[in-house]
Amino acid sequence: MTTHTFPSPWHGWRLFSLLAAAVLLMTALILLLGPDTVDATRSAIRATARSSFVLFLLAFLASAWAVLLPSPLGQALLRERRFIGLAFAFSHLVHALLIYRYGQLNPQFWPGRSALGNLPGSVGYLFILLLVLTSFKRPAALLGRRTWKRLHTTGMWVLAAIFAYSNFKRLPLSAWYLLPFTLTCTAMAINLLGKLAQASKRRQRQALSPR
Ligand code: HEM
Repeated sequence: MTTHTFPSPWHGWRLFSLLAAAVLLMTALILLLGPDTVDATRSAIRATARSSFVLFLLAFLASAWAVLLPSPLGQALLRERRFIGLAFAFSHLVHALLIYRYGQLNPQFWPGRSALGNLPGSVGYLFILLLVLTSFKRPAALLGRRTWKRLHTTGMWVLAAIFAYSNFKRLPLSAWYLLPFTLTCTAMAINLLGKLAQASKRRQRQALSPR
């Protein structure tokens, strides 16, 4: 069987650098073009949440995509999942730096938020940190294959739940938040379908293999 690869010079750290540069360019443009620094910082916080969301969805769906819709693009996505995931973490690092800056520019920001309100985001950042650290060979080897898999599956699902919640709680502000909320729920369903398809393929292979 011949395997077709998706022809792209953008893979590995080059792909990561391209995505990170795009996030930085977007942030710089919003900050430079916004007439008011405080409002522009808030807009950049929202924009980085959205760039993170797109990158997160690609990483979250890569495996299901490859198994449910086998294609060169799906294979490429699966192969580059680690770098797309790291680009998601980078975009969220920029989200965090902008939040810090916004807190300086608007002194009412932190006092206006409760510890409970900050809880989902803080848990999200904890998982992002764990996923990034364990995406490198040595820490991953220390964890072992099973624990690594468990941590990464749990982390991605926690982050998906935080995206769903963050968009759901903004529904009273605008009905547009229904779009990312529905996308997140659909992505969760597709991820599960992909896992079921993988398990059934594994069972078929085991049944066919000589004992
Ligand atoms: C303690 C940590 C965090 C804080 C303080 C925080 C703060 C903020 C702020 C101030 C906004 C802009 C709100 C607005 O203008 O409407 C925002 C937007 C958002 N954040 Fe974060 N965030 C945190 C972590 C996270 C994490 C971990 C995620 C996802 C995994 C996330 C997802 C979002 C989403 C989806 C939006 C809405 C973007 C939009 O308007 O489309 N945030 N966040």
